[in-house]
Amino acid sequence: MIRINENFSKLKASYLFVDIARRVNAYAAANPGKPVIRLGIGDVTEPLPPACIEALHAATDEMARRETFKGYGPEQGYAFLREAIAANDYAARGCSVAPDEIFVSDGAKCDSANIQEIFSQDARLAIPDPVYPVYLDTNVMAGRTGADKDGRYEGVRYLDCTPANGYVPEIPSGPSDLIYLCFPNNPTGAVATRAQLTAWVDYARRNKAVILFDSAYEAYIRDPQIPHSIYEIEGARDVAIELRSFSKTAGFTGLRCAYTVVPKSVMAADAAGGEHALHALWNRRHTTKFNGTAYPIQKAAAAVYTPEGQRQTRALTDFYLGNARLIREAMKKLGLPCVGGDNAPYIWINTGRDSWEFFELLLHKAQVVCTPGAGFGRCGQGHVRISAFNSRENVVTALERVAAALA
Ligand code: MLT
Repeated sequence: MIRINENFSKLKASYLFVDIARRVNAYAAANPGKPVIRLGIGDVTEPLPPACIEALHAATDEMARRETFKGYGPEQGYAFLREAIAANDYAARGCSVAPDEIFVSDGAKCDSANIQEIFSQDARLAIPDPVYPVYLDTNVMAGRTGADKDGRYEGVRYLDCTPANGYVPEIPSGPSDLIYLCFPNNPTGAVATRAQLTAWVDYARRNKAVILFDSAYEAYIRDPQIPHSIYEIEGARDVAIELRSFSKTAGFTGLRCAYTVVPKSVMAADAAGGEHALHALWNRRHTTKFNGTAYPIQKAAAAVYTPEGQRQTRALTDFYLGNARLIREAMKKLGLPCVGGDNAPYIWINTGRDSWEFFELLLHKAQVVCTPGAGFGRCGQGHVRISAFNSRENVVTALERVAAALA
């Protein structure tokens, strides 16, 4: 009989957000009179910016006419979008990223899951704890770790993010090859200063390592001192790949559009010591396994960079940050220490109790869904994450219910 990939047997039975959805759906089915408010998974609730909707309609009309119809597009994305990204997200911030170093895709989740394929099986991993589970789970599936021992996979260097270090991991003392960093952070909402990112870039350069920098939440940064891109740091073009998304910037969680930047200067070695540009490998992988993001979706994404698009997406992220402020204030009143929420849409709350217990308490007593910190790793124990993605009315009601439940 054909055999399974037994690396899958090392994983927890289900993906974190699938597990939570199952618990919440079971509760909702058993309690139809008690409407649940979801501040768990980071899924946007507000409609798309009008500029994106207009572009989507116009592009759909183009698809309806023979003269403007589009079949397969370039796997890496249309030039109009790659050029707009390079100009607005990079050149405008003083970063040098060429349009052909940008690979448009249908999501940063898939990109962050797939990128590990271009590295050797024995690449030494450095992964934060707590962490967005995709980074870790996909490396487990690929066989890059040992077994799960007390909630940690053997063979992974975990980068502890704790109240003591402000949830920004310290530089390890030993070498690593593949370093996952995410700022503004999911799940903690913590941001990294220029000095902290510089230390990581220097570490990667010293160790000839690669940083996978997930900046899916950069549109939430309001502090002008905080870098939006790893390429704002000198030397990062030689050691960093950056992942970005339109999901949280412009409400594209349902439309699906993201991109990955692989500078042509990031090199890695083969077993014989020969050097290879990761750009070429990722291009080979992308063109083999992906046929491009839908044309109307790319048009909608490009509309984000028009003056109206910029105003509208700023209003959208301001709106969610307004929710985040309310959540932070409410937690303060309840005497619960928290971080995040000022430059990120997530608030990370130190509950002082078991995080799954706290999750169940909020679900059963307040009908509010949060995400248990332990689901993001051992250091997440004692914490929960509350997402600012919901309507103002739901956030206000949820906070009233949480206050009553904890009184
Ligand atoms: C989350 O809740 O952590 C996000 O929804 C993750 C994602 O964007 O996939």
